[in-house]
Amino acid sequence: MADTQQKRVTVAIDGPAGSGKSTIAKRLADRLGFTYIDTGAMYRAVALWAMRQGVDFGDMHRTEQLALAAEIDLAPGRIALNGEDITEAIRTQEASNGASKISAVPGVRRAMVAKQRELGERTNAVMEGRDIGTVVFPQAQVKIFLDAALAERVRRRLVDLTAKGEQIDGEELAAQMKERDERDSTRADSPLSQAPDAVYLDSTGMAIEEVVENILKVVRARMTNGREYH
Ligand code: DC
Repeated sequence: MADTQQKRVTVAIDGPAGSGKSTIAKRLADRLGFTYIDTGAMYRAVALWAMRQGVDFGDMHRTEQLALAAEIDLAPGRIALNGEDITEAIRTQEASNGASKISAVPGVRRAMVAKQRELGERTNAVMEGRDIGTVVFPQAQVKIFLDAALAERVRRRLVDLTAKGEQIDGEELAAQMKERDERDSTRADSPLSQAPDAVYLDSTGMAIEEVVENILKVVRARMTNGREYH
């Protein structure tokens, strides 16, 4: 495999909040034996740190400093910030909105994208986020744009939050998710968008396994010559 020395496979999954990216990406990574990388969790970690430090999400300078200084460790299913396990702490609605705001800061994005490339270059990975196929790994061999109807995405998120004991009204959640999608899709730096070579998949009404199988078909189709991974 002279021409594929150190060649890593990246499966990029982008899409809006609640489209099922995390669930699907995790299962897919398990099936393929790849590393699962949740890039949204990284922005959430920086947002959490800013909240704790009383740093305004719009403060470009201080948020970038936090992003550069943040020691983020991703282990399967866990995330640590500066040595502290923050897996649960980043899953609140406040952290979701904070991550969306802080991720619009170009300096924060630069710092996170550098970390993400470093992680992705080390291993075969399923990486999910908003700009993986467009900015972080535009050369990714497989790109999926995962979508679902807003009502379904809200329903899924409501189930998640309620299971964690967070109380939020469905309409309020819908409004917040709409606002977050709008911000993530219209920001100047790396907005959520479908890469031209990404496969669009609408998961509304689909079972998890069905979505996973569909993506596995795309993976196999793009890897058929057997040179890409082993
Ligand atoms: O995927 P998530 O809901 O955990 O992401 C939280 C926020 O982080 C999301 O609203 C936008 C931002 N984000 C981003 O800008 N780029 C990424 N690659 C991943 C997440």
